[in-house]
Amino acid sequence: MLVIKTKKELRFHLESLNTRQSLGLVPTMGALHEGHTSLVEKALTENDYVAVSIFVNPTQFNNNEDLAKYPKTLEADFALLKNISSKLIVFTPSVAEIYPERIAPKTYDFHGLDKVMEGAYRDDHFNGVGTIVEMLLRLIEPDRAYFGEKDFQQLQIIRKLVELEQLPVEIKGCPIVREANGLAMSSRNERLSKDLRMEASLIYSTLQTAKKKFGTKSAKNITDWVVQEFQDQPNFELEYFEISDVETLTPIQKIQQHLKYRAFVAVYADGIRLIDNIALN
Ligand code: PAF
Repeated sequence: MLVIKTKKELRFHLESLNTRQSLGLVPTMGALHEGHTSLVEKALTENDYVAVSIFVNPTQFNNNEDLAKYPKTLEADFALLKNISSKLIVFTPSVAEIYPERIAPKTYDFHGLDKVMEGAYRDDHFNGVGTIVEMLLRLIEPDRAYFGEKDFQQLQIIRKLVELEQLPVEIKGCPIVREANGLAMSSRNERLSKDLRMEASLIYSTLQTAKKKFGTKSAKNITDWVVQEFQDQPNFELEYFEISDVETLTPIQKIQQHLKYRAFVAVYADGIRLIDNIALN
């Protein structure tokens, strides 16, 4: 496994690879878990070489405390990756390497995809994600890049970014990986107490029940039910629950048979923000 810290070294290494062979990219912020390793494994089945970036991107955090508390487990991340394949190229740049002049995001027009859900609650978050992902795609020039569906809104925004910037890469969305109790894998889960982590199975079980109700009950009826479910739980605070069109991410008005919908949720558990989603049809 090759660990590279600078853009120059990375370019030098990538240029030495046989250009007729394919390259996959898995962008991460580290604190790797099975959700990430599933992306790396998928990328390894579809590409000759796979690069994994580990970079806690400051421009996508709208809250300094969240940035400061973001878990950093570089040695454990290396061990996990080494176990999967010795062929990986791991890029771990410093903040100064990525943002040499100013730690600030670019501004994009994501055609409204960034104005709802996560975007409505986290100012500039998707401009920050777009900035780092565009930088990595331009630097690494992968054939394919892999993102988890847990951050489904992010995935759709990255598809839009690639279309807007006309970047020659295929964006691959990969299924959510869950803990045994159904909680979607996330680096933030490590910050939950053992008991709360068990109790947080409530998030996925609520989504599963919402899915069962979809088709027989109205979106308003389902939303009211979800709000009530969380009101009855003192350890959880619901930030939003939305049923939206998967393409435009606009909240559902009236079910249209030809459209695909997902239910999205963001919840605080002991101050830790957890998100999840489920395909409804
Ligand atoms: O999903 C993440 O971990 C991050 O948002 C990403 C895509 C690595 C950009 O920093």
